[in-house]
Amino acid sequence: IGVPLLTGLHGSTSAGSLLPSRRPLPNPFMLPFRVPPVLEPIRRDRTGDHYQIVQRAATAEMLPGVRTGIWAYEGRFPGPTIRSPRGRRTIVSHRNDLPVPTVVHLHGGHTPAVDDGFPTDLIPPGGRRTYTYPLRQPAATLWYHDHRMDFTGPAVWRGLAGFHLITDPDEDRLGLPAADRDLPIMITDRSFDTDGSLLYPSLDPMLHHMAGVREPYGSGVLGDVVLVNGSAWPVAPVPAVRHRLRLLNASNARRYRLALDPPPPGGGGLVQIGADNGLLGAPITHDAIEIAPAERFDVIVDFGRYRPGTQVRLINTFGDRTTTPVMRFDITHTAPDDSRIPDALAPAAPPTPPPTVTRDLRLRHDTVNGMPGWTINGIPFDPRRPALTAQLGTTEIWRISSDFHHPVHLHLASFRVLGRGLGGPGPYDSGPKDTIDLRPAEQATIRVTFTDHPGRYVFHCHNLEHEDMGMMAAFDVTGAPFNGRD
Ligand code: C2O
Ligand code: CU
Repeated sequence: IGVPLLTGLHGSTSAGSLLPSRRPLPNPFMLPFRVPPVLEPIRRDRTGDHYQIVQRAATAEMLPGVRTGIWAYEGRFPGPTIRSPRGRRTIVSHRNDLPVPTVVHLHGGHTPAVDDGFPTDLIPPGGRRTYTYPLRQPAATLWYHDHRMDFTGPAVWRGLAGFHLITDPDEDRLGLPAADRDLPIMITDRSFDTDGSLLYPSLDPMLHHMAGVREPYGSGVLGDVVLVNGSAWPVAPVPAVRHRLRLLNASNARRYRLALDPPPPGGGGLVQIGADNGLLGAPITHDAIEIAPAERFDVIVDFGRYRPGTQVRLINTFGDRTTTPVMRFDITHTAPDDSRIPDALAPAAPPTPPPTVTRDLRLRHDTVNGMPGWTINGIPFDPRRPALTAQLGTTEIWRISSDFHHPVHLHLASFRVLGRGLGGPGPYDSGPKDTIDLRPAEQATIRVTFTDHPGRYVFHCHNLEHEDMGMMAAFDVTGAPFNGRD
C-alpha cells in the first residue's frame, strides 16, 4: 500500500501549529540510527543502584553534518538510558549545569511525592538533587524529562529527555527479543534555524506573557523534521529477525499514526505487547499505531517476514510531506531467531477495590487573566491548590472530557481505559496506561487505583505547550505509605 506523499496537516489542525524550519531540510535516511547508551551505576550497594547525571549544554548531530546546540542529560539527546530491575531501588543524583532551574520527572514511575519532580520543586542552576525511585512496579518503558512549571515545552524541545526501562524476571522468561534486538525508539519533531540551532517560538514564554504577546503557538509546537533518538530520519540495518521496538512519542505536541511501508505480506506488521506502564495480557496485532505525546507502545516487528535487501520505512500517515517518513530499517541478512511472542504476556493483575468515587474533569481552552490559556474544570494550574484528594487503597472513576486533542497524563498511578463516549475502549487503549489521548469533543472514562505513595502530585495535558499554559492540576493522595517505607 503506497502512502500519499502529501496528506495535508492532518493531526496538526486540532492541536498544534507548524513551525517551519528556516533552512533547507536534508534528505531523509542519511544518518545512522543510534541507540542511547545505557548508563552504568557509579555504585551498587545495599541501598540500591546509584547513578549520576549532569545536565549540561552540548552539541549534537541531529541533521547530517550540522552541529546543533542542546541542553541534555550527560550532554546527550536522548539522555543515557537507565535500566532498573523491578523493585531495585534506583538513586539518581542530578547536577544542573544549565543556566536555568530544572526539575526531573520520571514519567510512569510510581514515585514518592518528594522524588516525583513536582513542577515547582526546582534544582537551581549549579545545584544538585538526588531522586530515589523504589520502582516496585512491573517491567515497563518509562522515560525521564524536564518538568519545570511553565517551561517544560522549551526544555524538552532543547533535549532534556531520556529512557528509563524497568525490567523484571517475569518478562525475561517470556523470550521476547532482547539485547541488540530490543530497540528504544524516541520520536520527536523539531524545527531548525538558519544556523542549525533549534527553533522554538518563544524560548521564554513567561517573557512573552509579561510583554502581553499573544502566544501564536499556544495550541502546540509542531516541527517539520522527525528525529528518532535525536537523529533526523535515521536508518537502522537489521537482521531478518524479530525486534522489539519500544516506541515513545516524546514530541511536544505532534501525534503520529505509525505504520510499516511496505507492510509485511499479509499485514499485521506491528504486534503490540506493551502499553505505557507495562505488558499487555496478550499481544494485539495492528497495521498502524496512533501514538500521542508521552504514550509508549511496545511492539514486536518480525523483519523475518521481509527478504534481505528490503528497505522498510516506518512512516507517519498523519504527516505532511516532511513528517511522513520517520525512519528506515534495511534488512541485511537472515539470522537465527529464538525469540517468541507468547500468547500470554503479563500475569493477570491483582484485583483492585471496586470504585467508590466518580469525578468529572473538563479540559478547555479558556481565558486566564485576560490571556488565552488552558484550564481543567475552569481553573488554571495552581501548585498550591489541589483540585482533588484521593485515598490510597481506593479506586476512582474519572470521566475526562475535552475540547481539542489532549493527551492527558496522570502521575503516580497507572489506569485502565474503560471507554470513550458511549463506546468501549479504542484500539490503542489496551493495557496499563499513564497517558490517554483524548480527541476533540470526546469524553473518556478511566479507572484508577491509588496504591503507592501519599503526597501531592499532578495530572496534566502532555501537549507541552498546553501544559505550560496552565492545563495541569495538582491532586493530593492521602493514607498510609505503601509497605510503610520507601
Ligand atoms: Cu511526562 Cu507530568 O509528565
Ligand atoms: Cu492539551
